[in-house]
Amino acid sequence: MSAHGNPIPMISRKCGPLKGTAAVPGDKSISHRALIFGALAVGETKITGLLEGEDVLDTGKAMQALGADVIRHGEGAWSVHGVGVGGFSEPEQVIDCGNSGTGVRLIMGLVSTYDFATTFTGDGSLRKRPMARITDPLAEFGATSYGRSGGRLPLTLVGTATPVPVTYETPMPSAQVKTAVLFAGLNTPGETVVIEKEATRDHTERMLKGFGADIRTETTPEGYNKITLKGQPELKPQVVAVPRDPSSAAFPVCAALIVSGSDILVPGVSQNTTRNGIYTTLVEMGADITFENPREEGGEPVADLRVKYSNLHGVEVPPERAASMIDEYPVLSVVASFATGTTTMRGVKELRVKESDRIDAMARGLEACGVEIEEDEDTFIVHGRGANGVKGGATCATHIDHRIAMSFLVCGMASQDPVAIDDGSPIATSFPVFERLMADLGAEISRG
Ligand code: S3P
Repeated sequence: MSAHGNPIPMISRKCGPLKGTAAVPGDKSISHRALIFGALAVGETKITGLLEGEDVLDTGKAMQALGADVIRHGEGAWSVHGVGVGGFSEPEQVIDCGNSGTGVRLIMGLVSTYDFATTFTGDGSLRKRPMARITDPLAEFGATSYGRSGGRLPLTLVGTATPVPVTYETPMPSAQVKTAVLFAGLNTPGETVVIEKEATRDHTERMLKGFGADIRTETTPEGYNKITLKGQPELKPQVVAVPRDPSSAAFPVCAALIVSGSDILVPGVSQNTTRNGIYTTLVEMGADITFENPREEGGEPVADLRVKYSNLHGVEVPPERAASMIDEYPVLSVVASFATGTTTMRGVKELRVKESDRIDAMARGLEACGVEIEEDEDTFIVHGRGANGVKGGATCATHIDHRIAMSFLVCGMASQDPVAIDDGSPIATSFPVFERLMADLGAEISRG
């Protein structure tokens, strides 16, 4: 989807207690990777619980364009007949990754070490996002790219027939950059090494190992992660059960914390330490969350979360936690607005290059709802107004960003006056059942 569809204005009103079970869809990061690893393995990979959001479906189409067979069998049940590492063929058409930075960046890494050219595009949000963070390390393997100014999409990547293995230290904490380099290393002889100063989500490493690659992670004397991948493995097809998405789970969890009298169950939320920073932070703010029935699902540690309405107070979120909750700062800033005292989020400049500039988008919308905000390039500060203190009554711009849209709808559930958004259509990229799931809990969200 390169053209963004018709906007869907939405409005969320103060509602009664949220009750019931919020079974959120499959993890977006793992769903992208399940389709990609399926395409890279020789034979049939079976997937259950796949997130059928637009971002992931676009990655499925891209795998098809590269030569894999991607088949839907039923809700969340898919299979991929892969072509093997080295087996992709040149796509005949432009690869359109829609809204998905993860999709485009991972696939760029994949095709950079093949002897063909691939042209990428995306929607109005994706075409604004920086791609040099990907094309720079891929150039070290020998790939060449021709993008718009600043390396932006549309962009053609000419892969190299004679890739050389690379040792790359990621300049920013980014699982997308780490993964793009490892994916380039898959079709490269020898060992590709990625060094990251701060740990980022580790699904790529876990799944590479699961599909049979020779990959190891060590801690350097400085405390960095050093990931070493042996190139040109034969990946073996797997059965992948995608666990639920902790980033999507954060929306009903945060809503229950601020809507008076709420008590909900959110099953199967990842406790992977590279993803669960939001839950640590919420507990520090005084959230009544119990982590029940800890177990393993789809290779990830998970627990069922029982979440009750809570009196919350502001906290300092340490910068070293940012990577483990990078997608949750928008909804955290909503929760912080309903807390007493100040919440300070430091080390968050990566938020400025997500689907939108998320600090700016949240700051402007929350200010319009009566919340005092301070910000600089790398810092986001919310002065909480207490449980019933957020006025609301604004229409907030979502900037083609699903998480901004859902965050302001959560805000409207507990603010004095309703909160509207100009466009809820991007929600379909990551959480297509959001409206129904929240309505089933008791939220009052309407369209128009
Ligand atoms: C993702 C990595 C993160 C995250 C995105 C998904 C991934 O991006 O924001 O939603 O699946 O690798 P960065 O790697 O750019 O931080």
